[in-house]
Amino acid sequence: MEERRLGPVVGLGTWNTFGGDAATARGVVEAALEAGCRLFDSSPMYAGAERSLGAALASRRSEVQVATKIWTGSVDEGRRQYEDQVAWFGRVDIEQIHNLQSWEDHLPWLERERDEGRIDSLGVTHYAASRFGELERALRTGRFDVVQLPLNPQERESERELLPLAAELGVAVIVMRPLGEGSLLRRSPPAEVLEELGVDTWPQALLKWALSDKRVDVVIPATTRPEHARANAAAGEPPWFDAQQRELVERFAA
Ligand SMILES: NC(=O)c1ccc[n+]([C@@H]2O[C@H](COP(=O)([O-])OP(=O)(O)OC[C@H]3O[C@@H](n4cnc5c(N)ncnc54)[C@H](OP(=O)(O)O)[C@@H]3O)[C@@H](O)[C@H]2O)c1
Repeated sequence: MEERRLGPVVGLGTWNTFGGDAATARGVVEAALEAGCRLFDSSPMYAGAERSLGAALASRRSEVQVATKIWTGSVDEGRRQYEDQVAWFGRVDIEQIHNLQSWEDHLPWLERERDEGRIDSLGVTHYAASRFGELERALRTGRFDVVQLPLNPQERESERELLPLAAELGVAVIVMRPLGEGSLLRRSPPAEVLEELGVDTWPQALLKWALSDKRVDVVIPATTRPEHARANAAAGEPPWFDAQQRELVERFAA
């Protein structure tokens, strides 16, 4: 297996958090940047989040990687989405095809952008295990550098086929929903368990659980709160969990 290509790092997701609310975006993005976050994920689907993210990154844009998406069945509309992204971000570092939508139609024009050096990497995403077969088919074309998939102690279907395939092909892995959209945070284990894991908070334990799988490059928790962005970023540092510590996290997430 090759070395991890992008990580291990904690990035920031932007679904359902600030949308077009530029002030909230500024607070969260500034806190994430201060805490060392260097990868930001967005999409045209996220109700204005791309524009707010671009404005919030401002003069720090060159220090980070922007991973965003093309989300449309039309190539013309896809190109328009890309033009908007170039206006907001200057360039797109990682361009992903959102939820596999018309991926075979978008690939040729996106590959031209990548081959001419305007995009660094191409990726493809899906959130549903029922579509993992098609995600695998897309990866096997050898035309993608990155895959974005769900992984957390309650959602582990990607471990069966997709993660081994990504490792075999040298495709970088970005993990969506690392906190189960917040559903894994309803209760936290006692302080002595967090101490045994060497973390301060339960969300950090869940983020570290995913990053401790060497096939994973990036986790992208989303938040509306600057203090959460700060705490989450701290999970991007080693030491990583061993098998026993991962099992402990799984027990408390069950
Ligand atoms: N198909 C796709 O391509 C796809 C699908 C799903 C997701 N994604 C990407 O993956 C990202 C992450 O997934 P997600 O947003 O669905 O879920 P998630 O990151 O697993 O969970 C987000 C939830 O966790 C809470 N949270 C975050 N940090 C916390 C902390 N330190 N303490 C307490 N609560 C915390 C947030 O609430 P607070 O606001 O209160 O912090 C929010 O409700 C998305 O934002 C998006 O960028 C992509």
